[in-house]
Amino acid sequence: MDKSGDAAVVLEAAGLTKHYGSVAALRGTNFQAKAGEVVALIGDNGAGKSTLVKCLSGAEQPDGGAILLDGKPVVLDTPTAARKLGVETVYQDLAVAPDLDPAANLFLGRELLRRGFAGKLGMLDRTAMKSQAVEHFRRLGVTLQSADVPIGSLSGGQRQSVAVARAVMWASKVVFMDEPTAALGVVQRERVLDVIRRVRDHGIAVVLISHNMPEVLAVADRIEVLRLGKRVARFSAADVTLEQLVGAMTGALSHEDVA
Ligand SMILES: Nc1ncnc2c1ncn2[C@@H]1O[C@H](COP(=O)(O)OP(=O)(O)O)[C@@H](O)[C@H]1O
Ligand SMILES: [Mg+2]
Repeated sequence: MDKSGDAAVVLEAAGLTKHYGSVAALRGTNFQAKAGEVVALIGDNGAGKSTLVKCLSGAEQPDGGAILLDGKPVVLDTPTAARKLGVETVYQDLAVAPDLDPAANLFLGRELLRRGFAGKLGMLDRTAMKSQAVEHFRRLGVTLQSADVPIGSLSGGQRQSVAVARAVMWASKVVFMDEPTAALGVVQRERVLDVIRRVRDHGIAVVLISHNMPEVLAVADRIEVLRLGKRVARFSAADVTLEQLVGAMTGALSHEDVA
């Protein structure tokens, strides 16, 4: 049984369509993310995963269909609009500023200013950002070799953990992660997966795009499968096999179209 089966649907795609010229990337795609669960979005290359994530995070506009947040239709016309509604995205490449320390990375573009006149002059409140960052890393179980060095000198896993922590810090509803561990080794990958689990345990909906099926089975609560721009299957991770997942992705196993 899907342990998050009763959880509320936070973000929903309903019949989304999206064309790039004559290519139909999304052909009436449905998708649901629920509070406090990790849902993996899987599918072969070209299935439409990235296009769906872009539409749901404000980076692209669908041609048709609806996007519902907490059951209400929303227009996510820019990534900023999505962020304002609590929807954040972590990209595949290690998207951090290497010259800045971990705290500065968390507040990148959303820096805290000092109170009063100093703040009006644009002076940053580094002490407040540092202490909030330390507390946030502690809550997520992110342990850094040092919080005082440029993030470029940390390991890939630590950098990606900071990128995940940054998205989570500002996400109140949903975090999309497009291949967050693709650049990482085995040990580092495990640490990032631990952070993802903790994010989920804080009640946020985590959408994980991954090609790594063992990783999907290890961390996801549910799995939704896209093929040729449509959702073709949904599984609870607890009772699905690798063979079923691959079969749904390739179309080798016939599934009821749940779209
Ligand atoms: N910017 C684009 N211009 C033209 N075609 C695109 C663009 N982005 C995606 N596509 C096409 O849309 C389809 C879905 O792509 P994509 O969403 O990237 O799939 P996935 O992430 O599952 O590999 C593919 O056929 C791809 O070639
Ligand atoms: Mg993609």
